[in-house]
Amino acid sequence: MTKNVTKYDIKDFEGLRKAGRLAAETLDYITPFVKVGVSTGALDDLLEAFMRQNGGIPATIGYHGYEKASCISPNHVVCHGIPSYNKILQDGDIINIDITVILDGWYGDTSRMYYVGKPSIKAKRLVETTYEVMWAGIRQCLPGNTTGDIGHAMQELAASENFSVVLDFCGHGIGRVFHGAPNILNYGTPHTGTKLEPGMVFTVEPMVNIGTYRTLTLSDGWTTITKDRSLSAQFEHTLGITETGYEIFTLSPKHWTYPPYK
Ligand code: MF3
Ligand code: CO
Ligand code: CO
Repeated sequence: MTKNVTKYDIKDFEGLRKAGRLAAETLDYITPFVKVGVSTGALDDLLEAFMRQNGGIPATIGYHGYEKASCISPNHVVCHGIPSYNKILQDGDIINIDITVILDGWYGDTSRMYYVGKPSIKAKRLVETTYEVMWAGIRQCLPGNTTGDIGHAMQELAASENFSVVLDFCGHGIGRVFHGAPNILNYGTPHTGTKLEPGMVFTVEPMVNIGTYRTLTLSDGWTTITKDRSLSAQFEHTLGITETGYEIFTLSPKHWTYPPYK
């Protein structure tokens, strides 16, 4: 049942490094603008300008009819929040900013959480746990392991904190395309799924909820929220499998990891 997964040449990793670096720099760049009173629409304008000024193209614009350069998902929005000038950030909000840039035909896809003002203790615990969940997944990204090993590690860690992983969305193969095989589910069974091999390139992007794993997509066709309106968080990196492990293409040049960023 394993679908054909594109394997890139190690020489191709140079293009992925550049695209991934620009994606990470874009998330670094936006950090000081994430404040009480700013609209997510204004943040999107800044993100788009930064990507274009640096030779990149926002991959989301025109993607299945999506019109913005980013997805900005506050609080109980799980993913695909559409930036809007009417959505003004409030003290205590936690938001995910997810951008994908195309540079010289290569895709870099990454997201981070940000705090607007001061987060609640619970929100902070969710965000920090979600960061660790992403890393539990990334640590399984070794040649010979499987996609099920990644998902299993992520689900186990989230469950150990009494949080739930989202089942309806997953990581994906990426490279010269935005979304390809293999799917990287946020749950799984060890030793099952696609076997990881050097040259495979994909994202690890767990979404973790405080309450139910169930999601709802709003009538705009994009905005996805938790069914119980509980808080949701996500981090995302793009990485490639090497002979000995993994190389992450979207690490912050400023070494920023999880918020607060300083
Ligand atoms: N960047 C998202 C991902 O991680 C995809 C967003 S597609 C959009 O795969 F159209 F909603 F922007
Ligand atoms: Co992605
Ligand atoms: Co993304």
